[in-house]
Amino acid sequence: MITFALAKGRLTQGAIGIFEKAGADCSPLLDETSRKLVRTSPDGRFRYILVKPVDVPVYVSSGVADAGVVGRDTLAEAGLPLYEMVDLGFGACRMCVCGFPQDKQRLQGGGSLRVATKYPRIAREWFARRGIHIEVIPLQGSVELGPLVGLSDVIVDIVESGGTLRANGLEVLEEIFHSSARLVVNRASLKVQQGLREFVERVAGAR
Ligand code: PRP
Repeated sequence: MITFALAKGRLTQGAIGIFEKAGADCSPLLDETSRKLVRTSPDGRFRYILVKPVDVPVYVSSGVADAGVVGRDTLAEAGLPLYEMVDLGFGACRMCVCGFPQDKQRLQGGGSLRVATKYPRIAREWFARRGIHIEVIPLQGSVELGPLVGLSDVIVDIVESGGTLRANGLEVLEEIFHSSARLVVNRASLKVQQGLREFVERVAGAR
C-alpha cells in the first residue's frame, strides 16, 4: 500500500484529478463532509492522509507518507530532505516581495527593513543574498495587512491573481521564484515501496 499526504485546501482538487488520471482510486476523497483523516481506497492499494499544506513535507520526509502533493513555496520554506519528482503544473503562483510602490528603492539596501511573512526562511535567504538586514515579522495570514497598518515595511508572500495586492494599493516589488504543485516522495520509499516509482511515472505522464 502506498501512503499519500494530501494538502487540504487549494491543491486538493488538482491532486485528486491527476492521481485519478494516473490510475489511483481517489473515491474515498470525494466525500467532502467526512472528517476522517485517514482514508483507504477500496482496492487497498492507496492510503490517503489529509493534512495541512505546511505539514505535507513533514509527513513525507519522515516516511510516514511515501509521497505527497505540495506547493514549491511550502517545500522551500520547509527545507526538509525529500525528492521533488514532478512539477504538476497547477497551483501556479509567484513568491514575491510586495509593498507600496514608493518603497521599491528600499530594496537596494542601505537600511533595515521589517518584513511580514508566512515564509521566514525564504525571506531571510533572499534578503541575506542581497546584503539587506531585515527583521522578520512572522504572521499566519492576511500578510498584506503588514504595510497597510504599519506593522512592516514590505511583505514576502505568494501572489496568485494579484487581486489582494490591487485591492490594498500594494504591488509586486521583486519576484523571488515561480511556484506550482509538486509531487514529492520519501527517499527510502522510492527504493523499497513497490509500485511507487511506476506511479510517479504515471503521474508525470498524466500532467
Ligand atoms: C494567499 C496569499 C495572499 C493571497 C494571494 O492567502 O497569502 O494573501 O492568497 O492571492 P491573490 O493574488 O489571488 O489575491 P490565502 O488566501 O491563502 O489566505 P491567508 O491570507 O489567510 O493566508
